[in-house]
Amino acid sequence: MSERVVSVSPELFRSAWRKFATGVSIVTTRQPDGGAYATTANSVASVSLDPLLVLVSFGNGGTTHANLVRERRFGINILRDDQAAIAQRYAASPPEERRLLPPAHRLLPSGTALLNDALARMDCRVVSDVGAGDHTVFIAEVEHIEVSGGAPLIFYDGRYGTVAEAGPEPTP
Ligand SMILES: Cc1cc2nc3c(=O)[nH]c(=O)nc-3n(C[C@H](O)[C@H](O)[C@H](O)COP(=O)(O)O)c2cc1C
Repeated sequence: MSERVVSVSPELFRSAWRKFATGVSIVTTRQPDGGAYATTANSVASVSLDPLLVLVSFGNGGTTHANLVRERRFGINILRDDQAAIAQRYAASPPEERRLLPPAHRLLPSGTALLNDALARMDCRVVSDVGAGDHTVFIAEVEHIEVSGGAPLIFYDGRYGTVAEAGPEPTP
């Protein structure tokens, strides 16, 4: 009888993905009472240039997932290298402490909340969603973009860090 070699497991999956360095964003959504809700997220990706599409992935059953299903809108705030405390706060605190309070953010006419301080910000309208295991992938059209100067916050191996050496400026 041949022996079955198990080469995948949730633990191995997690430890493999800890090796993938990402930027860090705060995704903002709106609560049923209109309040702005913030969640740390690194499942953010650029998808298409024409039209301008991005994706985010959130766990089913979470507050962000419920807000996205209901409101179909969100903000992406890409964090700067001195904003690890913000990332920690909106990943670990209980849902009632994830509400954004002025003056940390402002509301766009669309209703999306953007942080006043971030490396880049986008206002996104959900155009489709796909259930994927215990998460849902939300694909959204980007309707507003703001970009500021600075260096990004990095998440790698379960820790926050900065870019050690970014290399030369890209040629245009
Ligand atoms: C660096 C980092 C990135 C994260 N990215 C995601 C993500 O992309 N999707 C997700 O569902 N949770 C992500 N989380 C966990 C959420 O921040 C949060 O803790 C929670 O699981 C989702 O809470 P919710 O109930 O507010 O949706 C991340 C946590 C950290 C520390």
